[in-house]
Amino acid sequence: MSFIAVNTPLFEGNEKKYLNQCIDTGWISSEGNFVKKFEEDFSKYCDQKFGIAVCNGSVAIDVAIRAIKETYHWQENDEIIVPTFTIISCAQSIIYNKLKPVFVDCDPLTFNIDVNLIEQAITKKTKAIMVVHIYGLPSDMSKILDIAKKYNLKIIEDSAEAHGQEYQWQENQNSKKQKCGSFGEVSTFSFYANKHITTGEGGMILTSNPEIAKKCQYFRNLCFAENRFVHEDLGWNFRMSNLQGALGVAQFEQIENFINKKKAIGKLYQDLLKNIPAQLPLHSTNYAQNHYWVFSIVLNDEVKFDAKHAMKILHANGIGTRPFFFPLHQQPILKKMGFCDNDNIARNVSERIYQRGFYIPTGLGITQEQQIIVVKKVEELFK
Ligand SMILES: Cc1ncc(COP(=O)(O)O)c(C=O)c1O
Repeated sequence: MSFIAVNTPLFEGNEKKYLNQCIDTGWISSEGNFVKKFEEDFSKYCDQKFGIAVCNGSVAIDVAIRAIKETYHWQENDEIIVPTFTIISCAQSIIYNKLKPVFVDCDPLTFNIDVNLIEQAITKKTKAIMVVHIYGLPSDMSKILDIAKKYNLKIIEDSAEAHGQEYQWQENQNSKKQKCGSFGEVSTFSFYANKHITTGEGGMILTSNPEIAKKCQYFRNLCFAENRFVHEDLGWNFRMSNLQGALGVAQFEQIENFINKKKAIGKLYQDLLKNIPAQLPLHSTNYAQNHYWVFSIVLNDEVKFDAKHAMKILHANGIGTRPFFFPLHQQPILKKMGFCDNDNIARNVSERIYQRGFYIPTGLGITQEQQIIVVKKVEELFK
């Protein structure tokens, strides 16, 4: 029995050709042209003026927050609203930058931040809302932007899982679509192997603010300045290599195909799994079509076992899965550090879906035959 991994990337374009060019020319460090081209291609695609490539999506958030904090002179312990249902990177970047994360629960259907709970988390110290688009559907941007405007808050956008995803504005029938990654004063992406386009490890910061862009370039590169090896600040070496850039350019050439493939994978699962006693992802909302970065399953309350048990059985039957995010407000380290003291904010949706939810193989390399095997094994769970 061969194992069906939760993710398999797809390399069907110019990946080998461009990687060979790096090796043949010797341009393998961050100095090569592929990094620049990838930054230009991807920032333009997302309607932002500047792209700053880095070595992963987590450090992209570290750099982005430091840049926006310094640009607007935020003070220590100023607050950023962040969804509790996301990866630790979002909270730790805020904390590394000596700011305070304030966690808000997620919507039970989209798993994105519950826009109806944001206002009660705002205080005099709130400076920004971090928007994170989860699992394939964008956050409800129109409502979030209204709140941000009302309270004069900045938007930091983590689009790690939302390459090429679009938000459909509602005002009238012809109203335009807007790309995820274009909403943030500063936005970030991950190009980890399970993302729509991958560089193995990799990330990018996007912004149209020249001051923020300049700061990001500076922090990513050890704060080198004109007088080389003389430093006024401490930064990091978070540079992306030209080998990663080569992969990025080749993958970017195929992005629309990849998005269509993801949608087809999601649609097939939707059709075949519709009778299981579980909540499947929404195929669409009134502002977006699901891109199915991953295909999630949340077991109904009447199902006698939980997600952990389901994943164990599936693993034994050759099917890879992943658990849902463990809510940030329950993270032991964040509790220990005192970041979860505002217990008056209800966050029971994220707690429930963590117990009941998991996702199944949704990588671009999966075949229809493999999907049918996955479906059969998932159905068997309930027999
Ligand atoms: C929403 C979100 N943000 C940030 C990251 C971090 O990206 P990376 O794994 O490239 O550090 C991920 C990773 O999957 C993610 O899902």
